[in-house]
Amino acid sequence: MIIAQSTYSIFIESKPNAVFTEWLSTQSYDQIFILCDEHTEALCYPALANLIPEHTIITIPPGESFKSIHTCTAIWEELSSNLATRKSLLINLGGGVIGDMGGFAAATFKRGFDFIQMPTTLLAQVDASVGGKLGIDLQDLKNLIGVFKNPNAVFICTDFLQTLPKRQLRSGFAEVLKHGMIYSKPYWQQVSQIDIDTCTEWPEIIAQSVRIKSAVVERDPLESGLRKILNFGHTIGHAIETISLRMDEDPLLHGEAIAIGMICEAYLSAQVAGLTQEALTEITNVLMRYFEHYDVSKISMEELMEIMAQDKKNEQQQIRFSLLESIGACGYDLLVTEQHIHDALQFYKGL
Ligand SMILES: NC(=O)c1ccc[n+]([C@@H]2O[C@H](COP(=O)([O-])OP(=O)(O)OC[C@H]3O[C@@H](n4cnc5c(N)ncnc54)[C@H](O)[C@@H]3O)[C@@H](O)[C@H]2O)c1
Ligand SMILES: [Zn+2]
Repeated sequence: MIIAQSTYSIFIESKPNAVFTEWLSTQSYDQIFILCDEHTEALCYPALANLIPEHTIITIPPGESFKSIHTCTAIWEELSSNLATRKSLLINLGGGVIGDMGGFAAATFKRGFDFIQMPTTLLAQVDASVGGKLGIDLQDLKNLIGVFKNPNAVFICTDFLQTLPKRQLRSGFAEVLKHGMIYSKPYWQQVSQIDIDTCTEWPEIIAQSVRIKSAVVERDPLESGLRKILNFGHTIGHAIETISLRMDEDPLLHGEAIAIGMICEAYLSAQVAGLTQEALTEITNVLMRYFEHYDVSKISMEELMEIMAQDKKNEQQQIRFSLLESIGACGYDLLVTEQHIHDALQFYKGL
């Protein structure tokens, strides 16, 4: 299946196959590099290794804590010592960490050379690999350093999900639910019925999520307007994720934090954006069915507000929210009071 974008294509297949090798054969790269983390090297790279005659593999340790300038420097050094040029290709084989950082490394090395995304987590397949946002973290400030640049192609291979830990799969599923909530009620109704453990419809689900995300980003690539709807759940969710990373031994995954953020922001939507109580209850029930309750009483409002104030999406010192008008329709740049945010956390706490 191909989802064509204005400057590149997104291919959805079960595994790396002739679609990929044919695409590659139409290009003329002087060298091919593959960036993996230790997990994707062991679990995903074998499906790709024989399809590319000669290549250099660069492997980094797994996890968000390695999405840093230090790891990026190591990648640039590997590219440099192996004489990468502006005619080389980097294949990012991994989750969002590999895609964001590998893309950033390729977009900046020698002022930029080609890269393709081969996402291996559900989160990266439905979200991170589409939309051209690339970057790294600065200390615990996520994605603070980065650029916008589209890849030359995206190859989504759904079989890679077979080895993905269930908790990671569930985390990525939060973004699938978000796509329904912000853009399409029928899609929401479809995905909110899914049993993640037994689901066999991933190719169709991923395709639909990719269509929604790419429809939004193609209309507003640099996030000056409409693209902000993809941030639904992320203003509070990101802050909770940051706090959890600071204080929890086993911190929340991105999608787990966003699920809490989506409940809180659905509450805000009901206060200021016209979401009905009925829709709020439906959203809350579905999210609570997929995600365990998290103890938010240990979160200080002060810390939460401080982190949200640093959000790079703010303008004129004001925290702006993307909020639901109804299931399937989302507004953006909406302001709420600190009391509303406090009440939203209390609402979550009481569930
Ligand atoms: N660019 C964007 O628009 C965008 C959007 C959303 C998220 N992101 C970024 O994505 C990152 C999160 O992505 P993620 O959740 O994919 O995290 P990740 O890349 O850290 O992957 C999660 C874990 O799964 C492992 N893994 C990956 N594929 C596997 C497979 N097929 N089988 C078994 N294990 C596998 C990884 O090694 C890692 O341990 C964050 O840094 C976030 O900022 C970017
Ligand atoms: Zn997200």
